[in-house]
Amino acid sequence: MRLVKVPLGERSYSIRIGAGLLGGLGEQCARLKPGRRCAIITDANVGPRYAAPAQSALEAAGFHPLVITVPAGETAKSLATVQRCYDQLAAARLERRSFIVALGGGVVGDLAGFVAATYLRGIAFVQVPTTLLAQVDSSVGGKVGVNLRAGKNLVGAFHQPRLVLCDLETLRTLPEREYRAGLAEVIKYGIIYDAALFRRLERDLDGVLARDPETLASVVTRCCQIKADVVGQDETESGLRAILNFGHTIGHALEAISRYGRFLHGEAISIGQVAAARLSAALLGLSQKEVERVRELFARVGLPTTIRLNAAQEAALLAAMRLDKKVSGGEVKFVLARRIGEVVWGQAVPDEWIHRTLAEMRD
Ligand code: NAD
Ligand code: GLY
Repeated sequence: MRLVKVPLGERSYSIRIGAGLLGGLGEQCARLKPGRRCAIITDANVGPRYAAPAQSALEAAGFHPLVITVPAGETAKSLATVQRCYDQLAAARLERRSFIVALGGGVVGDLAGFVAATYLRGIAFVQVPTTLLAQVDSSVGGKVGVNLRAGKNLVGAFHQPRLVLCDLETLRTLPEREYRAGLAEVIKYGIIYDAALFRRLERDLDGVLARDPETLASVVTRCCQIKADVVGQDETESGLRAILNFGHTIGHALEAISRYGRFLHGEAISIGQVAAARLSAALLGLSQKEVERVRELFARVGLPTTIRLNAAQEAALLAAMRLDKKVSGGEVKFVLARRIGEVVWGQAVPDEWIHRTLAEMRD
Protein backbone atom coordinates (compact mmCIF):
# COMPACT_ATOMS: atom_id res chain seq x y z
CA MET A 1 0.00 0.00 0.00
CA ARG A 2 1.30 3.46 -0.86
CA LEU A 3 0.32 6.60 0.98
CA VAL A 4 0.20 10.21 -0.19
CA LYS A 5 -0.76 13.09 2.12
CA VAL A 6 -2.69 16.11 0.94
CA PRO A 7 -1.38 18.88 3.21
CA LEU A 8 -4.25 21.26 3.97
CA GLY A 9 -3.95 22.03 7.69
CA GLU A 10 -6.97 20.73 9.57
CA ARG A 11 -8.50 19.55 6.28
CA SER A 12 -5.47 17.36 5.46
CA TYR A 13 -6.18 13.79 4.37
CA SER A 14 -4.53 10.64 3.06
CA ILE A 15 -4.70 9.00 -0.35
CA ARG A 16 -4.22 5.25 0.04
CA ILE A 17 -3.18 3.42 -3.13
CA GLY A 18 -2.99 -0.35 -3.55
CA ALA A 19 -4.65 -3.53 -4.74
CA GLY A 20 -7.63 -4.87 -2.76
CA LEU A 21 -8.15 -1.82 -0.51
CA LEU A 22 -11.96 -1.91 -0.83
CA GLY A 23 -12.16 -4.65 1.82
CA GLY A 24 -10.58 -2.23 4.32
CA LEU A 25 -13.04 0.61 3.60
CA GLY A 26 -14.96 0.18 6.87
CA GLU A 27 -11.85 0.08 9.01
CA GLN A 28 -10.44 3.19 7.33
CA CYS A 29 -13.72 5.08 7.73
CA ALA A 30 -13.91 4.06 11.40
CA ARG A 31 -10.58 5.85 12.00
CA LEU A 32 -12.28 9.09 11.00
CA LYS A 33 -14.76 8.61 13.87
CA PRO A 34 -17.92 9.58 12.00
CA GLY A 35 -21.53 8.66 12.90
CA ARG A 36 -22.85 5.17 12.10
CA ARG A 37 -25.18 6.11 9.26
CA CYS A 38 -23.70 6.60 5.83
CA ALA A 39 -24.58 6.43 2.15
CA ILE A 40 -22.68 4.90 -0.73
CA ILE A 41 -23.39 6.86 -3.91
CA THR A 42 -22.47 4.86 -6.98
CA ASP A 43 -23.58 4.44 -10.59
CA ALA A 44 -25.34 1.74 -12.60
CA ASN A 45 -22.08 0.24 -13.93
CA VAL A 46 -19.99 0.38 -10.77
CA GLY A 47 -22.74 -0.50 -8.27
CA PRO A 48 -23.37 -4.07 -9.48
CA ARG A 49 -19.61 -4.76 -9.33
CA TYR A 50 -18.42 -3.01 -6.20
CA ALA A 51 -21.30 -1.75 -4.02
CA ALA A 52 -21.76 -5.12 -2.24
CA PRO A 53 -18.12 -5.44 -1.09
CA ALA A 54 -18.11 -1.76 -0.07
CA GLN A 55 -21.35 -2.25 1.85
CA SER A 56 -20.07 -5.42 3.59
CA ALA A 57 -16.82 -3.70 4.56
CA LEU A 58 -18.75 -0.80 6.09
CA GLU A 59 -21.19 -3.10 7.89
CA ALA A 60 -18.34 -5.19 9.30
CA ALA A 61 -16.99 -2.00 10.89
CA GLY A 62 -20.38 -1.23 12.46
CA PHE A 63 -21.77 1.27 9.90
CA HIS A 64 -25.29 1.28 8.44
CA PRO A 65 -24.88 2.13 4.76
CA LEU A 66 -27.65 3.10 2.38
CA VAL A 67 -26.81 2.51 -1.30
CA ILE A 68 -27.90 5.15 -3.81
CA THR A 69 -27.41 4.21 -7.46
CA VAL A 70 -27.48 6.95 -10.10
CA PRO A 71 -27.42 6.42 -13.89
CA ALA A 72 -23.95 6.01 -15.41
CA GLY A 73 -22.49 8.83 -17.50
CA GLU A 74 -22.00 12.58 -17.60
CA THR A 75 -25.73 13.40 -17.77
CA ALA A 76 -26.11 12.13 -14.18
CA LYS A 77 -23.96 15.07 -13.05
CA SER A 78 -27.02 17.31 -12.78
CA LEU A 79 -29.04 19.21 -10.19
CA ALA A 80 -31.92 16.80 -10.85
CA THR A 81 -29.77 13.85 -9.67
CA VAL A 82 -28.56 15.90 -6.70
CA GLN A 83 -32.19 16.47 -5.72
CA ARG A 84 -32.93 12.73 -5.90
CA CYS A 85 -29.89 12.01 -3.69
CA TYR A 86 -30.99 14.61 -1.10
CA ASP A 87 -34.45 13.01 -0.96
CA GLN A 88 -32.98 9.57 -0.29
CA LEU A 89 -30.55 10.89 2.34
CA ALA A 90 -33.37 12.69 4.12
CA ALA A 91 -35.67 9.64 3.95
CA ALA A 92 -32.91 7.53 5.56
CA ARG A 93 -32.39 10.29 8.15
CA LEU A 94 -28.72 10.88 7.53
CA GLU A 95 -27.52 13.48 10.01
CA ARG A 96 -24.63 15.90 10.51
CA ARG A 97 -22.19 13.19 11.61
CA SER A 98 -23.19 10.83 8.80
CA PHE A 99 -20.94 10.53 5.77
CA ILE A 100 -21.06 9.73 2.08
CA VAL A 101 -18.86 7.32 0.17
CA ALA A 102 -18.42 8.23 -3.52
CA LEU A 103 -17.86 4.88 -5.25
CA GLY A 104 -17.21 5.33 -8.96
CA GLY A 105 -15.52 7.50 -11.53
CA GLY A 106 -15.24 11.27 -11.71
CA VAL A 107 -18.95 11.70 -12.39
CA VAL A 108 -19.92 9.98 -9.15
CA GLY A 109 -17.09 11.68 -7.23
CA ASP A 110 -18.08 15.18 -8.39
CA LEU A 111 -21.80 14.54 -7.84
CA ALA A 112 -21.54 12.75 -4.47
CA GLY A 113 -18.98 15.32 -3.29
CA PHE A 114 -21.40 18.13 -4.17
CA VAL A 115 -24.22 16.36 -2.34
CA ALA A 116 -21.91 16.00 0.69
CA ALA A 117 -20.84 19.67 0.46
CA THR A 118 -24.43 20.89 0.59
CA TYR A 119 -26.62 18.37 2.44
CA LEU A 120 -27.21 19.77 5.97
CA ARG A 121 -24.71 22.54 5.02
CA GLY A 122 -21.98 19.95 4.55
CA ILE A 123 -21.21 16.45 5.80
CA ALA A 124 -18.05 14.35 5.50
CA PHE A 125 -17.26 12.27 2.43
CA VAL A 126 -14.81 9.63 1.33
CA GLN A 127 -13.69 9.08 -2.26
CA VAL A 128 -13.34 5.54 -3.59
CA PRO A 129 -12.40 6.26 -7.23
CA THR A 130 -12.78 3.37 -9.69
CA THR A 131 -11.54 4.93 -12.95
CA LEU A 132 -7.96 5.83 -13.76
CA LEU A 133 -9.01 9.43 -14.31
CA ALA A 134 -10.66 9.61 -10.90
CA GLN A 135 -7.73 7.92 -9.13
CA VAL A 136 -5.12 10.29 -10.55
CA ASP A 137 -7.14 13.47 -10.66
CA SER A 138 -10.79 14.07 -9.80
CA SER A 139 -10.92 12.31 -6.41
CA VAL A 140 -8.14 14.54 -5.04
CA GLY A 141 -8.39 18.25 -4.37
CA GLY A 142 -11.98 18.87 -3.34
CA LYS A 143 -13.48 20.30 -6.53
CA VAL A 144 -17.03 18.98 -6.55
CA GLY A 145 -20.01 20.00 -8.62
CA VAL A 146 -22.49 19.39 -11.39
CA ASN A 147 -23.18 20.63 -14.91
CA LEU A 148 -25.75 23.13 -16.11
CA ARG A 149 -27.20 23.12 -19.61
CA ALA A 150 -25.06 26.23 -20.18
CA GLY A 151 -21.82 24.44 -19.40
CA LYS A 152 -19.76 21.93 -17.51
CA ASN A 153 -19.14 22.15 -13.75
CA LEU A 154 -20.84 25.54 -13.52
CA VAL A 155 -22.31 24.81 -10.06
CA GLY A 156 -20.01 23.50 -7.38
CA ALA A 157 -17.95 23.92 -4.26
CA PHE A 158 -14.59 23.16 -2.75
CA HIS A 159 -15.22 20.34 -0.29
CA GLN A 160 -12.26 18.13 0.55
CA PRO A 161 -12.80 14.41 1.11
CA ARG A 162 -11.67 12.97 4.46
CA LEU A 163 -9.94 10.05 2.75
CA VAL A 164 -9.25 8.78 -0.78
CA LEU A 165 -9.02 5.03 -1.26
CA CYS A 166 -7.64 3.99 -4.68
CA ASP A 167 -8.17 0.27 -5.08
CA LEU A 168 -6.12 -0.56 -8.18
CA GLU A 169 -7.98 -3.86 -8.63
CA THR A 170 -11.13 -1.97 -9.60
CA LEU A 171 -9.29 -0.75 -12.69
CA ARG A 172 -9.29 -4.30 -14.08
CA THR A 173 -12.95 -3.99 -15.12
CA LEU A 174 -12.61 -0.51 -16.59
CA PRO A 175 -13.40 -0.52 -20.34
CA GLU A 176 -10.31 -0.01 -22.53
CA ARG A 177 -11.56 3.29 -23.97
CA GLU A 178 -12.11 4.71 -20.46
CA TYR A 179 -8.69 3.51 -19.32
CA ARG A 180 -6.92 5.17 -22.25
CA ALA A 181 -8.90 8.37 -21.69
CA GLY A 182 -7.63 8.41 -18.09
CA LEU A 183 -4.08 8.29 -19.42
CA ALA A 184 -4.61 11.76 -20.90
CA GLU A 185 -4.57 13.16 -17.34
CA VAL A 186 -1.51 11.05 -16.48
CA ILE A 187 0.40 12.46 -19.47
CA LYS A 188 -0.75 15.93 -18.41
CA TYR A 189 1.14 15.61 -15.11
CA GLY A 190 4.31 14.85 -17.04
CA ILE A 191 3.89 17.93 -19.23
CA ILE A 192 2.98 20.35 -16.45
CA TYR A 193 5.25 19.19 -13.63
CA ASP A 194 7.48 16.21 -14.14
CA ALA A 195 9.63 15.66 -17.23
CA ALA A 196 10.91 12.38 -15.69
CA LEU A 197 7.34 11.05 -15.50
CA PHE A 198 6.83 12.01 -19.15
CA ARG A 199 10.02 10.14 -20.13
CA ARG A 200 8.93 7.15 -18.07
CA LEU A 201 5.59 7.05 -19.89
CA GLU A 202 7.41 7.19 -23.23
CA ARG A 203 9.66 4.34 -22.09
CA ASP A 204 7.20 2.09 -20.18
CA LEU A 205 4.03 2.69 -22.17
CA ASP A 206 3.55 -1.03 -22.91
CA GLY A 207 3.44 -1.83 -19.17
CA VAL A 208 1.09 1.07 -18.55
CA LEU A 209 -1.25 -0.05 -21.36
CA ALA A 210 -1.12 -3.64 -20.07
CA ARG A 211 -2.21 -2.31 -16.63
CA ASP A 212 0.83 -3.95 -15.07
CA PRO A 213 0.10 -3.73 -11.30
CA GLU A 214 3.54 -2.44 -10.20
CA THR A 215 3.73 0.13 -13.00
CA LEU A 216 0.19 1.27 -12.24
CA ALA A 217 0.86 1.59 -8.52
CA SER A 218 3.87 3.80 -9.05
CA VAL A 219 2.32 5.91 -11.83
CA VAL A 220 -0.93 6.52 -9.89
CA THR A 221 1.12 7.37 -6.78
CA ARG A 222 3.30 9.87 -8.66
CA CYS A 223 0.24 11.58 -10.16
CA CYS A 224 -1.41 11.81 -6.73
CA GLN A 225 1.80 13.27 -5.25
CA ILE A 226 1.83 15.97 -7.93
CA LYS A 227 -1.85 16.78 -7.46
CA ALA A 228 -1.42 16.85 -3.66
CA ASP A 229 1.60 19.14 -4.00
CA VAL A 230 -0.25 21.59 -6.26
CA VAL A 231 -3.49 21.57 -4.23
CA GLY A 232 -1.50 21.91 -0.99
CA GLN A 233 -0.03 25.16 -2.31
CA ASP A 234 -3.19 26.57 -3.88
CA GLU A 235 -6.38 24.88 -2.73
CA THR A 236 -8.88 27.26 -4.32
CA GLU A 237 -7.07 28.01 -7.59
CA SER A 238 -5.92 31.54 -6.99
CA GLY A 239 -2.83 30.81 -9.09
CA LEU A 240 -0.72 27.67 -9.37
CA ARG A 241 -3.63 25.18 -9.37
CA ALA A 242 -4.59 26.54 -12.80
CA ILE A 243 -1.72 24.48 -14.28
CA LEU A 244 -3.93 21.39 -13.83
CA ASN A 245 -6.10 22.85 -16.58
CA PHE A 246 -3.44 22.38 -19.28
CA GLY A 247 -5.31 21.40 -22.44
CA HIS A 248 -8.69 21.92 -20.78
CA THR A 249 -9.61 25.29 -22.33
CA ILE A 250 -10.04 23.81 -25.79
CA GLY A 251 -10.86 20.36 -24.33
CA HIS A 252 -13.87 21.51 -22.29
CA ALA A 253 -15.13 23.60 -25.20
CA LEU A 254 -14.91 20.57 -27.51
CA GLU A 255 -16.91 18.52 -25.02
CA ALA A 256 -19.52 21.29 -24.79
CA ILE A 257 -19.99 21.84 -28.53
CA SER A 258 -20.33 18.11 -29.11
CA ARG A 259 -22.89 18.00 -26.26
CA TYR A 260 -20.73 15.60 -24.25
CA GLY A 261 -21.61 12.84 -26.70
CA ARG A 262 -18.63 12.53 -29.05
CA PHE A 263 -15.53 12.65 -26.87
CA LEU A 264 -14.77 11.29 -23.44
CA HIS A 265 -13.18 13.96 -21.23
CA GLY A 266 -9.73 12.41 -21.67
CA GLU A 267 -10.12 12.33 -25.45
CA ALA A 268 -11.15 15.98 -25.58
CA ILE A 269 -8.21 17.07 -23.43
CA SER A 270 -5.86 14.99 -25.56
CA ILE A 271 -6.77 17.20 -28.51
CA GLY A 272 -6.67 20.21 -26.17
CA GLN A 273 -3.17 19.37 -24.93
CA VAL A 274 -1.81 18.87 -28.44
CA ALA A 275 -3.34 22.24 -29.37
CA ALA A 276 -1.86 23.84 -26.23
CA ALA A 277 1.57 22.41 -27.11
CA ARG A 278 1.34 23.90 -30.60
CA LEU A 279 0.26 27.27 -29.16
CA SER A 280 3.17 27.01 -26.72
CA ALA A 281 5.57 26.62 -29.64
CA ALA A 282 4.13 29.71 -31.34
CA LEU A 283 3.90 31.90 -28.26
CA LEU A 284 6.45 30.65 -25.71
CA GLY A 285 9.11 28.98 -27.82
CA LEU A 286 8.40 25.34 -26.87
CA SER A 287 10.60 23.39 -29.28
CA GLN A 288 9.03 21.60 -32.27
CA LYS A 289 10.75 18.44 -31.06
CA GLU A 290 8.85 18.62 -27.76
CA VAL A 291 5.57 19.41 -29.54
CA GLU A 292 6.12 16.23 -31.55
CA ARG A 293 6.94 14.18 -28.41
CA VAL A 294 3.65 15.36 -26.86
CA ARG A 295 1.65 14.53 -29.99
CA GLU A 296 3.34 11.18 -30.39
CA LEU A 297 2.71 10.04 -26.81
CA PHE A 298 -1.02 10.78 -27.07
CA ALA A 299 -1.12 9.02 -30.45
CA ARG A 300 0.66 5.93 -29.05
CA VAL A 301 -1.99 5.74 -26.31
CA GLY A 302 -4.60 5.75 -29.10
CA LEU A 303 -6.02 9.13 -28.14
CA PRO A 304 -7.14 11.67 -30.76
CA THR A 305 -4.59 14.31 -31.75
CA THR A 306 -6.37 15.88 -34.71
CA ILE A 307 -9.68 17.67 -35.13
CA ARG A 308 -11.64 18.84 -38.16
CA LEU A 309 -14.18 21.57 -37.49
CA ASN A 310 -16.18 23.57 -40.03
CA ALA A 311 -16.42 27.36 -39.69
CA ALA A 312 -19.64 27.24 -37.66
CA GLN A 313 -18.21 24.63 -35.29
CA GLU A 314 -15.03 26.66 -34.87
CA ALA A 315 -17.07 29.75 -33.98
CA ALA A 316 -19.07 27.66 -31.49
CA LEU A 317 -15.82 26.37 -29.99
CA LEU A 318 -14.51 29.90 -29.39
CA ALA A 319 -17.87 30.94 -27.90
CA ALA A 320 -17.83 27.90 -25.58
CA MET A 321 -14.28 28.77 -24.48
CA ARG A 322 -15.56 32.18 -23.36
CA LEU A 323 -18.15 30.50 -21.10
CA ASP A 324 -15.47 28.52 -19.32
CA LYS A 325 -14.68 29.27 -15.67
CA LYS A 326 -11.09 30.05 -16.68
CA VAL A 327 -12.18 33.28 -18.40
CA SER A 328 -11.07 36.44 -16.62
CA GLY A 329 -12.18 39.94 -17.64
CA GLY A 330 -13.71 38.42 -20.78
CA GLU A 331 -10.32 37.07 -21.86
CA VAL A 332 -9.70 33.34 -22.24
CA LYS A 333 -6.57 32.35 -20.32
CA PHE A 334 -4.41 29.41 -21.34
CA VAL A 335 -1.83 27.28 -19.61
CA LEU A 336 1.15 27.00 -21.95
CA ALA A 337 4.40 25.03 -21.76
CA ARG A 338 7.93 26.45 -21.86
CA ARG A 339 9.26 22.91 -21.99
CA ILE A 340 7.98 19.47 -21.04
CA GLY A 341 7.78 19.60 -17.23
CA GLU A 342 7.34 23.38 -16.94
CA VAL A 343 4.24 25.43 -17.72
CA VAL A 344 2.94 28.93 -17.09
CA TRP A 345 -0.68 29.91 -16.51
CA GLY A 346 -2.77 33.00 -17.27
CA GLN A 347 -1.57 33.31 -20.88
CA ALA A 348 -3.75 35.34 -23.23
CA VAL A 349 -3.93 33.76 -26.70
CA PRO A 350 -5.25 35.81 -29.63
CA ASP A 351 -8.14 34.13 -31.51
CA GLU A 352 -6.06 34.26 -34.68
CA TRP A 353 -3.60 31.76 -33.14
CA ILE A 354 -6.38 29.43 -32.13
CA HIS A 355 -7.72 29.42 -35.71
CA ARG A 356 -4.21 28.79 -37.08
CA THR A 357 -3.60 25.95 -34.65
CA LEU A 358 -6.91 24.27 -35.41
CA ALA A 359 -6.13 24.55 -39.13
CA GLU A 360 -2.81 22.74 -38.52
CA MET A 361 -4.61 20.03 -36.58
CA ARG A 362 -7.02 18.95 -39.33
CA ASP A 363 -6.58 15.28 -40.13
P1 NAD B 1 -17.19 8.40 -15.34
O1 NAD B 1 -17.34 8.64 -13.91
O2 NAD B 1 -18.34 8.68 -16.24
O3 NAD B 1 -16.73 6.89 -15.55
C1 NAD B 1 -16.53 6.41 -16.87
C2 NAD B 1 -17.37 5.16 -17.15
O4 NAD B 1 -16.74 4.04 -16.55
C3 NAD B 1 -18.80 5.20 -16.60
O5 NAD B 1 -19.64 4.56 -17.51
C4 NAD B 1 -18.68 4.39 -15.32
O6 NAD B 1 -19.92 3.82 -14.96
C5 NAD B 1 -17.67 3.35 -15.70
N1 NAD B 1 -16.86 2.79 -14.63
C6 NAD B 1 -16.29 3.47 -13.62
N2 NAD B 1 -15.48 2.66 -12.92
C7 NAD B 1 -15.56 1.44 -13.49
C8 NAD B 1 -14.92 0.21 -13.24
N3 NAD B 1 -14.01 0.08 -12.28
N4 NAD B 1 -15.27 -0.86 -14.00
C9 NAD B 1 -16.17 -0.71 -15.01
N5 NAD B 1 -16.76 0.45 -15.33
C10 NAD B 1 -16.46 1.53 -14.58
O7 NAD B 1 -15.95 9.22 -15.97
P2 NAD B 1 -14.52 9.63 -15.43
O8 NAD B 1 -13.68 9.70 -16.63
O9 NAD B 1 -14.07 8.83 -14.29
O10 NAD B 1 -14.76 11.10 -14.86
C11 NAD B 1 -15.13 12.15 -15.71
C12 NAD B 1 -15.72 13.26 -14.86
O11 NAD B 1 -14.73 13.71 -13.94
C13 NAD B 1 -16.16 14.45 -15.66
O12 NAD B 1 -17.44 14.84 -15.23
C14 NAD B 1 -15.14 15.52 -15.30
O13 NAD B 1 -15.66 16.82 -15.34
C15 NAD B 1 -14.79 15.13 -13.90
N6 NAD B 1 -13.48 15.61 -13.44
C16 NAD B 1 -13.43 16.23 -12.24
C17 NAD B 1 -12.22 16.70 -11.75
C18 NAD B 1 -12.17 17.31 -10.38
O14 NAD B 1 -11.11 17.83 -10.00
N7 NAD B 1 -13.22 17.27 -9.62
C19 NAD B 1 -11.05 16.51 -12.50
C20 NAD B 1 -11.12 15.86 -13.72
C21 NAD B 1 -12.36 15.42 -14.19
N1 GLY C 1 -8.72 18.89 -12.37
C1 GLY C 1 -8.44 20.25 -12.09
C2 GLY C 1 -8.30 20.56 -10.63
O1 GLY C 1 -8.49 19.73 -9.78
O2 GLY C 1 -7.99 21.65 -10.31
